Amino acid sequence: MRVTLLGFGVVARSFAEVVMSEGPKLAKEYGLKPKIVGIVDSHGAAFDKNGLDLAKALESKSKLGTLAGLDGSYHEGMDGVHAIRETECEVVVETTPTELKRGEPGLSHVKTAMIKGRHVVCTNKGPLAIAMPALIELAHHNEVVFKFSGTVGGGTPVLDFAKRCLEGSEIRGIRGILNGTSNYILTRMAAEGVSMKDALADAQRLGYAEADPTYDVEGLDTACKLVITSNYVLDSALSIKDVDIRGITKVTGADVADASSKGETIKLIGSVGSKAKVSPERVKLTHPLNVSGTFNAICFDTHPSGEVTLVGKGAGGPETATSVVRDLIDIRRAFAR
Ligand code: HSE
Repeated sequence: MRVTLLGFGVVARSFAEVVMSEGPKLAKEYGLKPKIVGIVDSHGAAFDKNGLDLAKALESKSKLGTLAGLDGSYHEGMDGVHAIRETECEVVVETTPTELKRGEPGLSHVKTAMIKGRHVVCTNKGPLAIAMPALIELAHHNEVVFKFSGTVGGGTPVLDFAKRCLEGSEIRGIRGILNGTSNYILTRMAAEGVSMKDALADAQRLGYAEADPTYDVEGLDTACKLVITSNYVLDSALSIKDVDIRGITKVTGADVADASSKGETIKLIGSVGSKAKVSPERVKLTHPLNVSGTFNAICFDTHPSGEVTLVGKGAGGPETATSVVRDLIDIRRAFAR
């Protein structure tokens, strides 16, 4: 399976490491043999139809900040749309940073890839938060598979858990912690009295935060994930404009301490029921949604089974890279018959 990577940040680099370290296992257990024939970052593109040297690509990115170390394969200044048009491959993996004004450059990458007949794996929330119904239609029209499990829950398979494992139950509402960075910040404020600013700086250093960290703390990242989950699981047609959004920036150390003294904790909760909203809410310490650090927790209100809660790591390169592998396995299965 020939793959082009759009974006070479934390998630794509972790994915490249998985391909190098787990290659034989993926081939043996799943018949998955990803050959990375193209990599594009914000400076340029590298491609080689025989497969790029991933160790060299990682070394180049770490030492030079670009893919220039890939010598003859490197095309400085070539952008993603151009690279998708130039490269022969089966799958485009879109991992560029989420951008919520126009969804770019991810939206153009996804559209170009589909129009070229490429299957798409997308971990970038921007294109989906802005144009999910249209992209799903475009994928159908071009008869390609569109997978985006890494957009919600990082490595935790929230979307397919709800869609496949809860089949037969009616899902009446969704409520959850969907942003690892804000949960990490609130956890450290509560447990260690760390300031929001310092905890955010740590989350950025550890690779959890968005390229624009206001998306995390202002609730926009949670809103994106709520839109994607609701559209996928409940067949709604929401976009981010339909969500009432309030983030954690006004939560103080005193608020957190007061909640603690009452057997509660403050969490950034996204919910869909009669309306879609994101806001800080008090949660009982004993409630399943009280998860710490970068964990996400999502509770599906199902009929007749009641609340079903899924918990797992929601941010981080290696975690999200597993979602890319999962989506590629699904694409391979769809075409291996
Ligand atoms: N910044 C996001 C988070 C990354 O903290 O949850 C995963 O989508």
